[in-house]
Amino acid sequence: MKKILITGGAGFIGSHLVRLFVNKYPEYHIFNLDKLTYAGNLFNLSDVENKDNYSFIKGDIVDEKFITEIFEKHQFDAVIHLAAESHVDRSITGPMEFIYTNIVGTANLLNAARLIWKDFEGKRFYHVSTDEVYGSLGDEGLFTENTPYDPHSPYSASKASSDHIVRAYYYTYGFPVVISNCSNNYGPNQFPEKLLPLMINNILNKKPLPIYGKGENVRDWLYVVDHAEAIDQIFHKGTSGETYNIGGNNEWTNIDLVKKLCQMMDEKLGRETGESEKLLTYVTDRAGHDLRYAIDASKIKKEIGWEPTIVFDEGFSKTIDWYLENKEWLENVVSGDYQEYYEKQYK
Ligand code: NAD
Ligand code: DAU
Repeated sequence: MKKILITGGAGFIGSHLVRLFVNKYPEYHIFNLDKLTYAGNLFNLSDVENKDNYSFIKGDIVDEKFITEIFEKHQFDAVIHLAAESHVDRSITGPMEFIYTNIVGTANLLNAARLIWKDFEGKRFYHVSTDEVYGSLGDEGLFTENTPYDPHSPYSASKASSDHIVRAYYYTYGFPVVISNCSNNYGPNQFPEKLLPLMINNILNKKPLPIYGKGENVRDWLYVVDHAEAIDQIFHKGTSGETYNIGGNNEWTNIDLVKKLCQMMDEKLGRETGESEKLLTYVTDRAGHDLRYAIDASKIKKEIGWEPTIVFDEGFSKTIDWYLENKEWLENVVSGDYQEYYEKQYK
């Protein structure tokens, strides 16, 4: 049985990836390593936690000794690394956690794997990264895999740094790495500090909807399950040393996206049309706010055969429904008593 370590599996994207792998590959044993920060919780995986091919390991990737011990103990065949501090605004107010987890944590995993694997035959280290490493676009153009790195926030700089270290291991040691850089994900289980779940939560509670600057910044949105499937395909078919951009071909200005959300939520909540839009509030812009991200995803389509499958209106509607049906999840993650709630419900 192949042993696969997925880091950050209790978070947003990680939980969708763990679910996909546990259900799709009974011949793999999936180890989910997660520190359970404010962004991670095991309720996200309550449907797979009793499966025979799944184990949870609580721990911190910054702890070098602990990482070496678990590699020695479990002899993983492959790593898919998602654990990270992931929110740009938090990186502006407190960059050090991003430096430790995203840079030092990634280096610890790489090094433990390099020393323990020795022979790299049949091994793979997959680093999950972001399109933010490429910086910001103007009105035209797309990020390709050859776009020079130009990160602007402590978050994107920490991810860029980890990408460089991962590539250095490939060039220096012939270490079997693969990297993907993806655009903005949306979907169930995203912590309500990120744009869409934050706005959903505020609309529900009739609180102001904070739009940074003029709301003209553009992001490319991809449904989280499509991202998990792209990772699955790159993990199995990608070429060592290569990078693959992943995107939804689905650009929206923030203001248009939030207005669409307001309209759909008014319908779903039986509120008068226009009621939620009254909550829109323009606030001071994010420092160093990147204007536009957009992905050229032709390489992954051509070489791996992946493209998004979820139509945006469908994914968007499903996402809103999930939050409306999981108000208790929302309340608990927002209040920060999530772990206590989980223990009571499931243990
Ligand atoms: P998330 O914040 O929802 O989850 C991160 C997970 O990592 C949490 O479960 C957390 O507990 C865990 N974690 C954090 N620090 C840790 C540590 N020191 N040791 C062990 N576990 C730790 O993040 P996400 O949005 O699911 O993003 C996952 C990955 O994908 C990140 O690497 C991120 O950079 C990348 N990414 C995210 C997006 C997006 O739109 N969310 C897009 C592209 C790439
Ligand atoms: O592009 C991929 C990246 O997408 C990932 O690497 C990050 O982990 C992920 O957090 C996301 O980063 P963004 O900064 O683009 O996502 P966020 O949801 O924080 O913000 C999306 C846009 O909305 C951005 O232009 C800032 C704006 N915004 C955000 C919040 C939270 C607002 O206008 N108001 C808000 O309250």
